[in-house]
Amino acid sequence: MRIRILGSAAGGGVPQWNCACAGCSAARASGTHRTQDSVAVTGDGTAWYLLNASPDIRAQLLAAEPLRPGPGPRDTPIRGVLLTTAEIDHTAGLLSLREAGALTLYATGTVLGALRTALPIVPVLRRYTELRVHALPIGEPVPLEGGLTVRAAAIGAKVPRYADQCAADERAGDDWVCALRVSDDRTGRAFVYATCLPEWSDTFDEFLDGADAALLDGTFATEDEPARQAGLSRTPRQMGHLPITGAIPALRRHGRTRVLFGHLNNTNPFAGTGAETPVEIAQDGQELDC
Ligand code: MLT
Ligand code: MN
Ligand code: ZN
Repeated sequence: MRIRILGSAAGGGVPQWNCACAGCSAARASGTHRTQDSVAVTGDGTAWYLLNASPDIRAQLLAAEPLRPGPGPRDTPIRGVLLTTAEIDHTAGLLSLREAGALTLYATGTVLGALRTALPIVPVLRRYTELRVHALPIGEPVPLEGGLTVRAAAIGAKVPRYADQCAADERAGDDWVCALRVSDDRTGRAFVYATCLPEWSDTFDEFLDGADAALLDGTFATEDEPARQAGLSRTPRQMGHLPITGAIPALRRHGRTRVLFGHLNNTNPFAGTGAETPVEIAQDGQELDC
């Protein structure tokens, strides 16, 4: 299995368009940008799946040589998109795929509900392309093209801000946020993707067990970062993001897994290039063989 990190930043990217903080200013000055969280995976090097579709998708695809179209005039190696949340930074890029001849989309029932109503990307896209929508069943293996199988775990119930005024039944659901485990049918190797991880639960620990590679939640480096860097009162966990320092102790049990951190917020000191980091930080355009 091959994995390409399309984007390694949280919503807004680094630098964020309206932010003059030290990190964003340094990124602007050096030209080292991070685009918003998304990954591409393939089992056979030919059929690729996108994990999330960020608002930066066009630039991410243009920068990715293996994702170029061809050989036919409208052929694309992209076989589908799998979503882990209904957040804007993970879904707005779907609108930029509307030129597709057909588009296959996988997401949990709750996420699909939001994308049909509060943020109606699904009905809008249907006017532009043949949209094939599949509900992603929690815990059940789903076969993908190219010899991959994916399984989802529900890891959070955080409702996107655009939906927090919706009716109670629309906000209900324990599968607003999921982690994905993509495995290669031929080699048995597995990659876990969980960039919106509110806590390290036993369920998640088991889900990660034995994986060969993982991209985890690197939104915030430390518990006090939002308060210190941005004057915010909510903690990382209250925002649905376990800080990196909160994950480090649990990683000791997963020594065989190569763990990277992505979805970095612009307040995160590890987002800068050349920062000394206690863990591996994902970079835009980075590719891993798993
Ligand atoms: C999140 O990751 O918590 C959300 O994407 C926040 C946002 O950008 O709206
Ligand atoms: Mn996000
Ligand atoms: Zn900033």
